[in-house]
Parts: sequence; C-alpha cells; structure tokens
Amino acid sequence: MQQRWADRDEVDVYLGVGANEGDREAAIRTAIAALAVTPGIAVVRVSRLRETEPVGGPPQGRYLNGAVHLRTALAPHALLELCKALERAAGRRFDGVRNGPRPLDLDLLLYGDRELDTRDLTLPHPRLAEREFVLAPLRDLGVDVAVIPRPVAGPRVFEEPDAFAAWCDARRRGGCELGLVPTMGALHDGHASLMRRARAECERVAVTIFVNPLQFGAHEDLDRYPRTFAADLELCRQAGVDAVFAPRVDAMYPPGFCSRVAVGREAETMEGADRPGHFAGVATVVARLWSLARPDRSYYGRKDAQQVAVLRRLQRDLGLSGALVECGIVREPDGLAMSSRNRYLAPADRRAATVLHRSLRAARDAFAGGQHDRDALLAVARAVLDAEPRGRLDYLELRDEGDLAPLPAGRVPRGRMLCAVRFGEPPTRLLDNLSLRGADEEEPW
Ligand code: PAF
Repeated sequence: MQQRWADRDEVDVYLGVGANEGDREAAIRTAIAALAVTPGIAVVRVSRLRETEPVGGPPQGRYLNGAVHLRTALAPHALLELCKALERAAGRRFDGVRNGPRPLDLDLLLYGDRELDTRDLTLPHPRLAEREFVLAPLRDLGVDVAVIPRPVAGPRVFEEPDAFAAWCDARRRGGCELGLVPTMGALHDGHASLMRRARAECERVAVTIFVNPLQFGAHEDLDRYPRTFAADLELCRQAGVDAVFAPRVDAMYPPGFCSRVAVGREAETMEGADRPGHFAGVATVVARLWSLARPDRSYYGRKDAQQVAVLRRLQRDLGLSGALVECGIVREPDGLAMSSRNRYLAPADRRAATVLHRSLRAARDAFAGGQHDRDALLAVARAVLDAEPRGRLDYLELRDEGDLAPLPAGRVPRGRMLCAVRFGEPPTRLLDNLSLRGADEEEPW
C-alpha cells in the first residue's frame, strides 16, 4: 500500500493566532481554514479565542488571541513560510514596526519537542513562557505548559571546546551572523561595550572567558589575575550575550599541546619587548578560539592597541575568517582607561594613575595647538609623566595611527601616542593610548 506523507514523520505543532486590526475573528478563522486544506497539514483542535491587551509596541487596539493544534510533516521553515504567506494574504505589512498592530499574526510556538535557533525561527518560541495570551490557549488544548522547555535564562555556558564549536556551527548553519568577544574575564564596562557592539551588529554573540597561561611571563600575575566568574556571567546576561565559553586550561591545552603561533615585527617592541612571549601566547589562544568559533566578526578593545595590530596581522597572514572590529577605549570619569588590572591599585596609586591619560591629552592638546614635531610631542607627554613620582614609565612612543609602525623624527602629520606605566609593588602595569587627532572620541559605544 502506498504510504501517505502523514505516516512518516508527523509532528504535533502548536501555532499562536492573533489579530488586532479589521475583522479579527474572520481573519483568524480564514487562516485556520486555509491551513486545514493545505496538503500535509491536519488541524486537530482550535482553542477558545480571547480578548487580550497588546504587549509592547505603539498604542494600538486589543487583540483576539488563540492557539491551533496541527499535525504535520512539513519542516519548521516550510511551515514558517506558509504562515508568512497567510499573514500577507490577510493584509499584514512587514514594515519593521516592532510589536505593531496587525490584521493577522501566526507564531510557531512548539514543533514537537524540537529545539531550533536560526536567524528567523527559534523553537520553542523564545517568549512563550512570558506570554499568558498564548499560555492560556495552549492550556485549552491540553498542553502541559509547565514541561515546555524554557529558554535558558541568560547565556548558555560551555566548558568543552567541542560543544562550544558545535553551538557556533549550528548558529552559522541557521544563517545567524556570529560575533565573538574573547576575554580573560574580570569583566568591566569596557568589555560590556564590546558585547553591546557585537549585539548590535550580529544575530548571535559568544563571549570567551579564559585566563590564558600562555600569555603570562614567569614572574607575572597569572596566579593573582582576578577570577570573578559569577559577576562576569551576570554582566554577559545583562549585555544579551547568547553563549559563554569558559574552558578549563587542560581542555584548551590538553597534555602534549606544544604548538605556538609565532608573531613577527608588530610583536617585538613596546609590550613585546617588556613581555617576551606574550604576543605568541595571545596569538596562539586567539587562533584556537577563532578556529573553534569561526566568527563573522570578533571584537577587541583599542586599549590594547598593539594586541589589535598583532591580531590584524595574524588574521591577514593566516587567512582567518570574518572581520576584526576594533572598539574605542572606555574610561572612568577621571580619564583612567578601564582595565581588569585597575583593581590591583592601592588608593594612592589609583589616584596617580590618571597620569597616563593626562600625559597623552597634553600631547594631543599640543598637537591641536600646532606642535607637530615628533620629539617635542613626546617631551610634552614625558614632562607630565615625570611629574608623578608614584608611576615608573616603561615606554612612551609615538607611532603610526594605523599599523603602529615607528615614525621617523621630524614633523608627523598624525599619530597615536602609547604608554605603559608601573605602579606599586608588586607592580601593576597600566597601558593607554590616544590618537593625536582626537579621532578616538567619536565612537558611540
Ligand atoms: O585582551 C585580552 O583580554 C586577551 O589578551 C585575549 C585577547 C582575550 C587573549 O587571551
């Protein structure tokens, strides 16, 4: 006997139906009748229709809401397309007004026990649990709403590299653009600005939290580096992050791991001169994270301008996918660049630490006033730094604003001034940099 489609993979599907423009009930009944005569769909039951108040959006009239139980073998996206076609046929305009009035609204609420996360469809419906106007009709239809898998509150947390890679891969296959924000945790508002930008530009955002031992020298602060996972997770949740990858060291670097990504010229001076091996450690972990996530965009803060230059080179040389997005420095009200290491500072050092920004600003003001000689500009910043006895200068450099290449003596048309200063004992090293043209101040994030 020939098999009917319905004998194969029939699934119980629940649709939300609603309308708040025109003849609401007629539009809903017409759509249900159209579903019932569509090959591959059987309408099992329709709930009572209820008057409900609109949720969100511009001022608008009351809705009529209900739910429909279907059995179907149509794939989720085929069903979604059909729902959109019925909405269009009822006169719905897709004009971008969020939660605006509509002559017909059909929402895929549940598709069997399937969980899905793609650009245009998430199952179960992500806001199902918050919406009494769909929960009540589902109860009419005998659905035990207490057992519906609820969207996880806050980001999904992954410890295993393979599970994280699979999550990223599934988002990409679902057509979502993925933003990656690599961090070492101890998150602050500077990191939050990277996440906000990623959130605005990408459909899914993943943050990595990993204190990478490869980038710390033997006498550096690996052991005392702040680890604040609970607070970090909360910050990620508030920033709307979808996934957090927080691996153990032995998961990132299993026994026998001995490869390193060697980095060239960009990594030899300034931070590289002071911290041998640091940038090879950064490049190794970033290459590893990049190959797990394969992001469409990854986000880094300009406070670590040399790190950005090294990673740009790494991305170009190794052909790593996606765009590298450099985000502006976020500062405390007194100008100190935000950094996870600021919390090490004793109160007097914290007050003194504004000298980094003050010195760079003095050079920028001199530049704006017409002083364009490289050494004279360095001398202006140096005088401010020398006047602060608590700070010990590691380096002060004026470099090309784009690739941070050294600038020859003489007149400079533009440039970025960078410095590193130590405070206290054991020393806390702080970094800062500023465009002499003031180009950094224009960023909205
Ligand atoms: O900038 C950082 O926090 C780290 O260097 C990075 C890029 C996450 C690599 O460990």
